[in-house]
This record gives sequence, structure tokens and C-alpha cells, in this order.
Amino acid sequence: MSIVLNAFLMSTGHHEASWRLPESDPGAHRDVAHFQALARTAEAGLMDSVFFADSPSVRSDLARRPAESLDPVLLLTAMAAATERIGLVATASTTYNEPYNLARAFASLDVISGGRAGWNAVTSADLQAGANFGFTSAPTHAERYERAQEFLEVVLGLWDGWDDDARVADKGSGVHTDPARVRDLEHVGRHFRVKGPLNVGRSPQGSPVVVQAGSSVPGVALAARYAEAVFTAQPTLAEGRDFHARLKRAVAGAGRDPEHCKVLPGLVPILGGPRRRRAGWSPSSTTWSSWTTRCASSPRPQASSSTWTPRCPRTSVPPRRSRATAPATS
Ligand SMILES: Cc1cc2nc3c(=O)[nH]c(=O)nc-3n(C[C@H](O)[C@H](O)[C@H](O)COP(=O)(O)O)c2cc1C
Repeated sequence: MSIVLNAFLMSTGHHEASWRLPESDPGAHRDVAHFQALARTAEAGLMDSVFFADSPSVRSDLARRPAESLDPVLLLTAMAAATERIGLVATASTTYNEPYNLARAFASLDVISGGRAGWNAVTSADLQAGANFGFTSAPTHAERYERAQEFLEVVLGLWDGWDDDARVADKGSGVHTDPARVRDLEHVGRHFRVKGPLNVGRSPQGSPVVVQAGSSVPGVALAARYAEAVFTAQPTLAEGRDFHARLKRAVAGAGRDPEHCKVLPGLVPILGGPRRRRAGWSPSSTTWSSWTTRCASSPRPQASSSTWTPRCPRTSVPPRRSRATAPATS
């Protein structure tokens, strides 16, 4: 058994005042080199993946902390070019996107990165974001999850529309792609009508990894059907154990192997040695950026695995012909 380690990156750090530290660059949230350095550090530190949260709105107080947010898929594409094996996970909303656009963006990242893309599918509770998409009132929790279910069916269907061997590229016969190995989706549902096929074919890992981050009853149900990993932030050990058991039961209930859906609880490392404590160090002075700086300065063993992806079959989606496999994790 092994664990999956995912680095939750946030501009200069998760602490809202991290940009004010003497060693912080207050413009780092717009600096691609900063994010490429973080990805390289995480990869050298044997992390399995890096992750960006996201919402299509200005979410925090502009005066107080860096509130601009570059598009995470574009950012991860640049980070892919600076790394070799680390997983690249971005959040994207099922409430404020169209499935075709989203399927294409993540499939593109998967191809560009050589099979390292992951999508954290969220329903976005954020009311400010709704105002950017014509909503005058927020869709209810139930409405968001109902749309999310159909959204995932469409995205996974589009990703599965191409056979692995669809690209023939036979110069002699002049056939580039075999049309018989690329299928329309012909989806007609309550929220979406999508003909397909997607204009991006299979990637080296088959299709991007699906992550989910809701802990409610419909959130767990959605994860049970589709997710290969679940982000969660349970406040106590007892609640964490309860959530883990609940999720694994739900995955089994959806007809999948519970081992194929990993639970990734949040962990905030507070680092400090005796010398720091003597100097009056306190946990509030520790940020992700200071952690990564320390990591970067200490050599780590070389990574041995090729990608982070814990592959797992989902229900209601036809099995892929061939998928990259990864070591089992828990
Ligand atoms: C680690 C983690 C990361 C999350 N990232 C995002 C995010 O980037 N954008 C977002 O709208 N919600 C994010 N969420 C929130 C969840 O997706 C979800 O909306 C929230 O937990 C409420 O859903 P629930 O009612 O099913 O629990 C995140 C949650 C966790 C635990």
C-alpha cells in the first residue's frame, strides 16, 4: 500500500499574508516561472501531483491579498513543459462551463503533458461566479449536482469517443484517422445536447483522471460513480474515518472497486526545528512558499514512477480499450 501526495498550490502560499513575507514576490501569482519552479520542486520532492483550486470570479478582497487567478489549465500546460512525470490537476466547474469546451481543454492538457492531466469536478457554490454567467439567483445544491451528473456523463462520453488506434497515419494509403474508430456521442439530456465527437483523441493515459471534492450526500454519490480520487477536509479524525467508510461503501454500491477511488484528506504541514522554536518561531509564520523553498534547497531521491494516476473504471462508462496503469495506492 502506498499513499498519494498532492500539493495544493496557491500563488505565494495559503496564508493570506504570505505575499508580504520578505522572501515573497507579491507578483508571483502572475509569474509562470514561479509556478514552474513550484512544480519542479514538488516533482523533485516525489509528490504525485500539483493541484489548483478555481472559481471563475474574484473571490477574495482585492486590497488584502493577490486575488487575480490565471486560468489553471493554461498554467498547468506551462508547468507540464517544465516537468516530466508529476500529475497536473485543475479545478473546473460543472455549473459554469459547457462540457464540450471542458472536455477539450482537459484532453488537450492530457495530450500535451503526455498523460498527466486531472480534473477536479466541482459544482461551485460561489454566488459571485453565478453573476458572471447570467444567474440572477444561485442554483440550488440539488440542481447543481443534477447538472454535474449529466455533465460528467457527457465529458466521459466525449473522452471515450475515440478508440486508441483511431489514428492510422498511413502515408501510403493516405488514411490519417479511421472514421470507423471515432464515434459521435449523440447525447440529448435535460441540460445538454452534444453531438460529438470530441476534436481531441486519446491521450497516453486514455483520458484525464477525475477528482471530486464534495462531501455531501450527492457529492459522495457523484464521486462514487465517477471519481478516481476525492479531496476532503474533515475536521476530526473520527469524522475523517466516517467519511472514508461512507465513501468506500458508496463506491462499492456503485459497482466499483473501493480501492479505485482514493481519499486525499487535507494536511497542512507545520515545519520547524529546535533552533526556530528558540528564536520565537510560530506556526502562523509558516507558508507553502517557505516549505517549498526549504524543499528546493535539500536534495531528494530521484522519482522512479512515470505518472501519478491511480486508474479506475467508472460505472456507466464503457471500458477503455487500453489505459495506462499505475501502482496501486490507497
Ligand atoms: C481540497 C478541496 C478543494 C476544493 N476546491 C474547490 C474549488 O477549487 N472550487 C470550488 O468551487 N469548490 C472547491 N471545493 C469545494 C467542493 O467542491 C464543494 O463545492 C464543497 O465541498 C461543497 O460541496 P458538498 O456540499 O458536496 O460538500 C473544494 C473542496 C476541497 C475539500
